[in-house]
Amino acid sequence: MEWTGLNDLREKFLKFYESKGHVILQSAPLVPKDDASLLLINSGMAPLKKYFLGVETPPARRATSCQKCIRTPDIERVGKTARHGTYFEMLGNFSFGDYFKHEATKWAWEFITQELKLPVDRIWVSVYEDDDETVDIWVNEVGVDPSHIVRLGKEDNFWEIGSGPCGPCSELYFDRGEEYGCGKPTCGVGCDCDRYVEFWNLVFSQFDSDGEGHYTPMEHPNIDTGMGLERIACIMQGVNNLFEVDTVQRIMKHIAGIAGVEYGQDEKTDVSLRVITDHIRSTTFMIGDGVVPTNEGRGYVLRRLLRRAARHGRLLGIHEPFLYKVCETVIAENEKAYPELRENQDYIVKVIHNEEERFAKTIDQGMELLGDLIDRIEAESLSEEEKILSGEQAFKLYDTFGFPIDLTREILEERHIGLNEEEFTRYMNEQKERARAARAAMGDVSWEEDILAPFKDNKTEFVGYTESESDAKILAMVMDGQLVDSISEGDSATILLDRTPFYAESGGQVGDMGLILGGKCVFKVMDCKKSASGLYMHIGVMASGMFTTGDEVHASVSMARRRAIMRNHTAAHLLQEALREVLGNHVHQAGSYVDEAVCRFDFSHFSAMTPEELDRVEYLVNDMILSSMDVKVAEMSIEEAKATGAMALFGEKYGSVVRVVNMGGRSIELCGGTHVANTGNVGLFKIVKESSVAAGVRRIEAVTGRGVLRLIDTANATLLEASSNLKLSNPAELVAKTAAITAELKAKDKEIERLTQKLADVQVDGLFGSAQEIGGVKFAMAGFTGTKPDALKTMADRIKEQAPNMVALLYTVVGEKASIVAVCGKEAQGKGLHAGKLIKEFTALVGGSGGGRPDVAMGGASEILKLDEAAAKVPQIIEKMVKTK
Ligand code: ALA
Repeated sequence: MEWTGLNDLREKFLKFYESKGHVILQSAPLVPKDDASLLLINSGMAPLKKYFLGVETPPARRATSCQKCIRTPDIERVGKTARHGTYFEMLGNFSFGDYFKHEATKWAWEFITQELKLPVDRIWVSVYEDDDETVDIWVNEVGVDPSHIVRLGKEDNFWEIGSGPCGPCSELYFDRGEEYGCGKPTCGVGCDCDRYVEFWNLVFSQFDSDGEGHYTPMEHPNIDTGMGLERIACIMQGVNNLFEVDTVQRIMKHIAGIAGVEYGQDEKTDVSLRVITDHIRSTTFMIGDGVVPTNEGRGYVLRRLLRRAARHGRLLGIHEPFLYKVCETVIAENEKAYPELRENQDYIVKVIHNEEERFAKTIDQGMELLGDLIDRIEAESLSEEEKILSGEQAFKLYDTFGFPIDLTREILEERHIGLNEEEFTRYMNEQKERARAARAAMGDVSWEEDILAPFKDNKTEFVGYTESESDAKILAMVMDGQLVDSISEGDSATILLDRTPFYAESGGQVGDMGLILGGKCVFKVMDCKKSASGLYMHIGVMASGMFTTGDEVHASVSMARRRAIMRNHTAAHLLQEALREVLGNHVHQAGSYVDEAVCRFDFSHFSAMTPEELDRVEYLVNDMILSSMDVKVAEMSIEEAKATGAMALFGEKYGSVVRVVNMGGRSIELCGGTHVANTGNVGLFKIVKESSVAAGVRRIEAVTGRGVLRLIDTANATLLEASSNLKLSNPAELVAKTAAITAELKAKDKEIERLTQKLADVQVDGLFGSAQEIGGVKFAMAGFTGTKPDALKTMADRIKEQAPNMVALLYTVVGEKASIVAVCGKEAQGKGLHAGKLIKEFTALVGGSGGGRPDVAMGGASEILKLDEAAAKVPQIIEKMVKTK
């Protein structure tokens, strides 16, 4: 056997199976398509389930692939051991009802012994315990030494993961040699130690599991094999673990270089290096497939991986964002097989950098808070078992400060402190319940799957690309989550038709509205949705008469509304094109929503757009509208579509036939929505708002056609109203008039300020006149009503400047409250007076509080009726202060 690089191994495998009549399939994106049972693709067969189940016809009956996979159940162990990882690639060959055990075993053997030249005496085979047939094939057809075959139970040799296709399996092991063994007499294939590594799993896929222990035999048996690319690379490269494989090692070196450390020197450093190496691989790929960091679902997995990696960076002493730099090596090592990484490089780097910066803020704050909590726990003399962080505090860190709970757990573990998990779970569940209730309030259609099960073989024929009306038959009706035979006037219901012109909400385009008619009977359709199996659900209310299942009806879409929707949808495509032209090719659609009123488009971009960029984009879209380009729609294979340069949705996987919407060759997108026939029909396009929706995602809201007219009408009405308020006959005079008013107001403000100062001077003069002498200082007091506290402050400053031997107390009553200022000149201070103390004593008499510096101090009070009485006591307070000096 000869040292082989990971990239070459992948190539070898695919070519080998191609030579055996297999079609090479591209790796599917990590985000599963149409499969709610799975967060992320976790095996080679995951994206192919529909072919195994016979729901869809496969592109060929023999296929092979190298699939990027993510498995996260062991995330806590990643790094701590050298074995675990979240990201890996799986090589596989698949038979969809074509060949079975004979060929699967024969070719696997041929590949490893003849192509890879693994020494036969080091290969071992395991078989499901009572699968005699497979043992017989291995021994008598393939020629495996019977002493190298072991039978194992369901635990090891029955493959299933969640729900879906599964079956007994046979696994191939490589014996790394005695020196890697545990030395126990029982050591052998299946032992937990490092001697026998399982590297290839051949699954004889025969059942469809519901994930709850029920197995339904599938129509025909299939083959699903999975060989860990990194595992076989370890064997071929004679290294100990995944982190020492050539491509992975280079990623680790990059990290070690940044941190200035070396792998293999001390365990703590190694753990961190492994965590980061693994996580930067998975996250680079996830982002490349369109996942963005959020607090839910796969977005949460991504955030957690990134944050865990960032934290280990800190443990290595890296305090600046750095993961975004390492991602370059991940791309370089993988771009040959996954060119999408390089295409999306700018975007990936930005997402990672952004998340690192955000995390730095969260982590600093969270670490400090958690650190305080831990210090407090440690300060109390508690026994080991009593050292526990409460679930409430952990929840608060998570919920209010965004500090990840797994980080809390890890840090607590390091400090030997427990966590009240039960209490934490309770808080989490309460929060989930609140979220669930909120969702339910927004119109839940979870009945759909159960109720429509009997109709799963029916599909609605959609004629709405070309027709606005169509005859149809009622297949079924649902009311209050129940199938019903008939509905009558006033009933809110959902109608399923065999054929329909109604567009069902998808791809960001809302469902159509309109009518379903039958003689004099009328059902008003308010919305239309599509079930997972392709049935169109017309949601609405029976306006008059009644319908019975099986009725022949006539469905008619409200075209005025639909045309407005189409204008907005076409505009969304033009907008995407314009954005790419103005901002660059990193712009990808991150979501869109079009209805009759708005064209909303979310896209990847990292800073707010400048007014100039917005103008430019708007100009370009209008230019494309005004050049009246035909909108051509064609169905073709995905390869043909790609050849036209069509933009596909980021991270999306498409069926084999796709619909391509081409606007004059300038905007070409894969899209299932409805569009106007010529861009000129959009009318006009106007951007209303640009904003941020998430880190690295911007949103543009715009209007088209009549929407632009409405905008102009509203703007005009505002201008007219403003003109009439200012008694102008012509709105064109508004600019000059408002400028004049602003200037006038400014001049008046100045005048007011001048007068206020003057008034203060006059009042201060009055105070000097009325001052009395107490113990050698001059004392004055004055109360005002309605005067702003600021004015008192101005007066106080004057007194301080002009009368060093004076102490004064000023108050003003505004509404129900009094503001008080005390001032004390330099000389007076020398005689024992202190403005802060004076105000403190005074405000205490009037239900308030105050204090401050010796020269000027402020306070407030609410018992204004006591002011006079308190004022009378001030001379005594002052006398006391002078005396106690
Ligand atoms: N689907 C099988 C596995 O993932 C081959 O191991």
